Amino acid sequence: MSIHISAQKGEIAKTVLLAGDPLRAKYIADNYLQDVLLVSQTRNAFYYTGTYKGKPVTVGASGMGCPSIGIYSYELFTEYEVDTIIRIGTCGAYTTKLKLFDLVNVDYAASESTFAKYAWGIKDSCIRHQGKAFKTIKKTATELNIALKNCNIHSSDIFYRKDSKTPKVATANKCLAVEMEAFSLFANALHLGKTAATLLTVSDIIPTHERITADQRETALQPMMVLALEAVMKL
Ligand code: HPA
Repeated sequence: MSIHISAQKGEIAKTVLLAGDPLRAKYIADNYLQDVLLVSQTRNAFYYTGTYKGKPVTVGASGMGCPSIGIYSYELFTEYEVDTIIRIGTCGAYTTKLKLFDLVNVDYAASESTFAKYAWGIKDSCIRHQGKAFKTIKKTATELNIALKNCNIHSSDIFYRKDSKTPKVATANKCLAVEMEAFSLFANALHLGKTAATLLTVSDIIPTHERITADQRETALQPMMVLALEAVMKL
């Protein structure tokens, strides 16, 4: 038991997929996993442990933003001996070079967040994915013939803002898209010597205001879920 996750020790697999939304974690457990056990529901942040093609995996919720995923990933890494966390989420594209439904494997996450500095004394505003999961995801995508791009992304604290200009930290670090969690996940993994990757589906194109609809979301996210689970098999 940790503060924000009520699973018993041993009830969380070595590899965890983290979605922002608890109901997306439930969807993955319901549709892709066998032998599923709901191991935590503190704050309705559901965590399910099961198997995918025989391989143990936990899927759970990170909540939104760097502070929230910072808490869950830290407790998973330190209280449950988790080796690898793969975040699966959505992002907004800053450029029309990315299209709706594109899948992105995150190389570096850049952020104005003070999380890494004040938590761990890491001064960089740009932190890379950690360990081998990124490469495993890339290789798995090639094998499964799933189109996958890799790029840097901006982990922002801000979803709504008055100024629609792309923020400086994003242009300075060649970030093609924005989400809100990868930076603190990567910072925790860097500090703790763990493995972390982030796989994103482009859900909106910021300059053109195109976005996938709520109805499209469930099916739109399926290639990402399959890719993440198939990559877990190889970790
Ligand atoms: N901003 C931040 N996070 C996001 C966005 C966005 O536009 N789209 C999907 N996640």
